[in-house]
Amino acid sequence: MSKQTLTIALSKGRIFEETLPLLAAAGIVPAEDPEKSRKLIIHTNHENIRLVIVRATDVPTYVQYGAADFGIAGKDVLIEHGGDGLYQPLDLKIAKCRMMVAVRKGFDYESVSQPGSRLRIATKYPNIAAEHFAAKGVHVDIIKLYGSMELAPLVGLSDAIVDLVSTGNTLKANHLEAVEHIVDISSRLVVNKAALKTKHTLIEPIIQAFAGVVNGGQ
Ligand code: ATP
Ligand code: PRP
Repeated sequence: MSKQTLTIALSKGRIFEETLPLLAAAGIVPAEDPEKSRKLIIHTNHENIRLVIVRATDVPTYVQYGAADFGIAGKDVLIEHGGDGLYQPLDLKIAKCRMMVAVRKGFDYESVSQPGSRLRIATKYPNIAAEHFAAKGVHVDIIKLYGSMELAPLVGLSDAIVDLVSTGNTLKANHLEAVEHIVDISSRLVVNKAALKTKHTLIEPIIQAFAGVVNGGQ
């Protein structure tokens, strides 16, 4: 009988770096560094386990459709995606940051964000932004951007942004300030629902190894 295979979807950058120790705890070592290679399929020290390198926002899609058995995605990406077809068994407590509303320093956000008022919001996260402002009773025109959100209030594209904040350095460098906290973000393990059943004996020990690292780090 041929050995079952396992495909893990990861994004380059901070998630990949912070995932390496978790993979190591599960005995999985990538054969190449995706930062240095142009390859999108990275083999590992296990012939039946491979990594696929995708955009952070695409991880849930690959896992949802079973093109990857599991992956690691930020809660920001998962809220926007909706989570259909995904089990989210573990908060990995990596890539921690906060989803915030931010404005130009000195902008009177308090008085323009009262119930019934109208604001222009630039963001990569239209669903999170829409839900946040709907709960406050504030009408919003949402402008979808794909990066450099901090620029939008500086050039008059929007009144405010909804974006991730970690050290606060990006806001500071652009004379912006955070005015509202929406949700704490960290990365989660996401598993294809069918794969969790059909490949249980392969996936479960990996989840346990990841959980050991996460809980051991507390
Ligand atoms: P894409 O390639 O799809 O545009 P991206 O550039 O946002 O994605 P990363 O910057 O690697 O990709 O972010 C991946 C995840 O890391 C985000 O979804 C979020 O959960 C988390 N993250 C983003 N920015 C920070 C930050 N400054 N500090 C900590 N974690 C962050
Ligand atoms: C994220 C986020 C902010 C920045 C916040 O951008 O969109 O711009 O980090 O981090 P800080 O509070 O520590 O400065 P990222 O570095 O991922 O760049 P990108 O989204 O433009 O790729």
